[in-house]
Amino acid sequence: MKFAKNILCIGAGYVGGPTMAVIASKCPGCKVTVVDINEERIRRWNSDDLPIFEPGLLDVVRSARGRNLFFSNDVVEGIKAADIIFVSVNTPTKTFGYGAGMASDLQYWEKTAHEIVANSDRSKIIVEKSTLPVRTAEAMERILQENKKGIHFEVVSNPEFLSEGSAIMDLLEPDRVLIGSRQTESGRKAAQEIAAIFAHWVAPGKIITANLWSAELSKLVANAFLAQRISSINAISALCEKTDADVGEISYAVGSDTRIGSRFLNASIGFGGSCFKKDILNLVYICRSYGLNEVADYWQAVIVINEYQQERFVRKIIKEMFNTIVGKKIVLLGFAFKANTGDTRESPGIHVARKLLEERAELVISDPQALANARKDLAGLADSVEYEPDPYRAAVDAQGLAVITEWESFKKLDFARIFASMRKPAFVFDGRNILDHQQLFSIGFNVFPLGKPNLTHFK
Ligand code: NAD
Ligand code: UGA
Repeated sequence: MKFAKNILCIGAGYVGGPTMAVIASKCPGCKVTVVDINEERIRRWNSDDLPIFEPGLLDVVRSARGRNLFFSNDVVEGIKAADIIFVSVNTPTKTFGYGAGMASDLQYWEKTAHEIVANSDRSKIIVEKSTLPVRTAEAMERILQENKKGIHFEVVSNPEFLSEGSAIMDLLEPDRVLIGSRQTESGRKAAQEIAAIFAHWVAPGKIITANLWSAELSKLVANAFLAQRISSINAISALCEKTDADVGEISYAVGSDTRIGSRFLNASIGFGGSCFKKDILNLVYICRSYGLNEVADYWQAVIVINEYQQERFVRKIIKEMFNTIVGKKIVLLGFAFKANTGDTRESPGIHVARKLLEERAELVISDPQALANARKDLAGLADSVEYEPDPYRAAVDAQGLAVITEWESFKKLDFARIFASMRKPAFVFDGRNILDHQQLFSIGFNVFPLGKPNLTHFK
């Protein structure tokens, strides 16, 4: 079959895979190929055992795979055949050299730029899908323009705003699609070509065009604003615990102001995920590199509060369990950084688990999707950690439960049965405020919510 366009995506991860699957399903006239250097990932994208857990993803992949959606390890062939190349490789925080712990590590991204130049023999549109520091497109343009073949690459920024766990819905019904380009004739034309792909299913009013730098920076700013809301409410949760105010009631009251809005005001043990921390650190680094130290300090505080919140949770567990948890069995209900994903990157669960193990607790981790990743995160600590998918089995002889992830299934557990199998006094630390605290208290638990009064049976 002859396709109208050949679209390539370099990077078959949490973004590349779902995004391209949705594009392929909505644009049957385009051939969409996703390439990756990771052979295991590609093998799984070509099976029904997909490399990532994402509700609805398998159906979308199945609807297009083999028709106009292909997964391959052949990066070179993919580049040669492509008219449009989305670059969706990882851009983690740098762990070495200048900017270590702050700046983005752009080595994977830069490698793809060189691969594109080496393997192209005609003009192409290059789309930055990865989250990148502002003005990265300029560097990419410079590498691409170095070609001696007389071909032109137009670089466009199309940052991705999907959230894990709701990626398919976010892609099918995005709040907006942002496309940044050079404000030249060829730049605008390239932006229109990318807009035409999304116009197959996204209303024109939701497709926003901007200049390249605004698009790149908007992505960092969007994540910083979202994370800032979480740190704001988490900071208030600490004050609530001192004053007997209830952070849930505050979120509701404050969020009812339409100027503020109700979403992203759930107090928690802190935000996790591969992007919020990385992107804010990157924003802070960029601000410092321009000498904007006050601006950098402002955003850095979002991270400081996030670390404080995780630490507070651990300290509360230790303090309330009579200042020692040596040899006590504690169940972590959840380990993923949020519900509906198996992803554990930067999950607060990692910090909590390590700290509790340092205090010599015995841990049992129970999560419907994240146990394989949890094992990798806690490798080397195997002796004191058990991994048990069944929460009922996990709780036998335990003294404490700590909710790490807001899985729906945890709300429906039979806590009377769990209580009966636990040692007494039994404790619940609800790091997500998802359980029915009054009910747990009446069953006999000592209950420690976040930012709400404790419910204990101690005199
Ligand atoms: P990921 O690590 O899951 O996937 C990246 C993939 O790129 C990996 O499979 C890796 O093998 C591959 N890769 C690296 N170098 C390559 C090369 N030279 N050739 C071919 N493949 C190569 O990362 P992700 O979570 O999909 O994130 C990708 C980008 O999207 C990041 O910049 C991230 O900040 C951004 N982003 C992520 C999310 C999210 O929810 N995870 C959402 C929005 C934006
Ligand atoms: C986030 C953004 O929401 C996406 O728009 C963005 O594309 C993505 O980062 C990215 O750039 O990678 P994601 O990290 O997948 O998406 O998930 P979120 O739903 O944002 O949750 C992030 C963390 O914040 C989770 O640990 C979650 O539990 C926590 N959270 C979220 C709270 O603690 N409270 C809330 O009210 C909301």
